[in-house]
Amino acid sequence: MSEKVIFKIKRQLSEKDSPYWEEFELPITDKLNVVSALMKIQKNPVTKSGKKTEPVNWECSCLEEVCGSCTMLINGKVRQACTALIKNILKTSKSNTIILEPMSKFPVVRDLQVDRQRMFDNLIQIKGWTPLDGAFHHQEVVISERKFTDHELEQIKLDAVIFNPETKTIKEAGSYITRDLAPQQPPKKADLRYTLSECMTCGSCVEACPQVKNTPNAFIGAAIISQARYFNLHPQGEYLKEDRVEALMEDNGLANCGNAQICVKVCPKHIPLTESIVDMMGEATSRAFWGWLKK
Ligand code: SF4
Ligand code: FES
Repeated sequence: MSEKVIFKIKRQLSEKDSPYWEEFELPITDKLNVVSALMKIQKNPVTKSGKKTEPVNWECSCLEEVCGSCTMLINGKVRQACTALIKNILKTSKSNTIILEPMSKFPVVRDLQVDRQRMFDNLIQIKGWTPLDGAFHHQEVVISERKFTDHELEQIKLDAVIFNPETKTIKEAGSYITRDLAPQQPPKKADLRYTLSECMTCGSCVEACPQVKNTPNAFIGAAIISQARYFNLHPQGEYLKEDRVEALMEDNGLANCGNAQICVKVCPKHIPLTESIVDMMGEATSRAFWGWLKK
């Protein structure tokens, strides 16, 4: 293996500017990954031919494959730059050149940084949130002066001024809010929810899917479908279940899936995306047949 690595980087100053290529050469050090290599290039932006140039722009945050912001094409494959070890890449490619490009399904902000807003817009379309946060059940109760059981006291968050802990009585009547925890879910369901929750909106599945085009109202993509399933499994999230299924029945929804199954192969979090698509297709079919009964 060569002692030096060459980075061939696709540069683009803005979404409207034309792309061009530049090469940079770095010594290979132990544990060097694509992000640490980009940091070295940023400190000394001189091309392989000795020309001083603009520092390369990219995005990163967590540096441990959690935020998804460093996702880019590395030797043509979509992946996270922070966990892309140079020695491993060179071993696989049997070349001393590594090609870095921005993802192609998102507008380029600059160089390797893209704008993943289309994914967040699609999350809004499927109502990718729970209607309430932090508590399962909010209820206004009018409390009169009486003794409360220990269980009730756990449920009611009281103002200490009016609560007498010795007699366990509430002195004044008023309105209070009960905050119960969400009911427990069977471990299998909770495990599935955890797995689905690991999506970091990195865009890898969007980039790899041949059905996702760069056109308005293009296919919503596997990540968003899987997130609809995730929120529908949530004890509070299921309140919006029917809205989410209907959102996935829109023109850019489930019907666009071509069953290429590449999404599931590129997902760094191993999210069962194809299973989510099948599951939501079942929900949509059931809604199409029986939805009118609920109207
Ligand atoms: S489903 Fe996987 S590949 Fe797609 S955005 Fe989420 S983490 Fe990335
Ligand atoms: S920096 Fe967060 S995934 Fe790479």
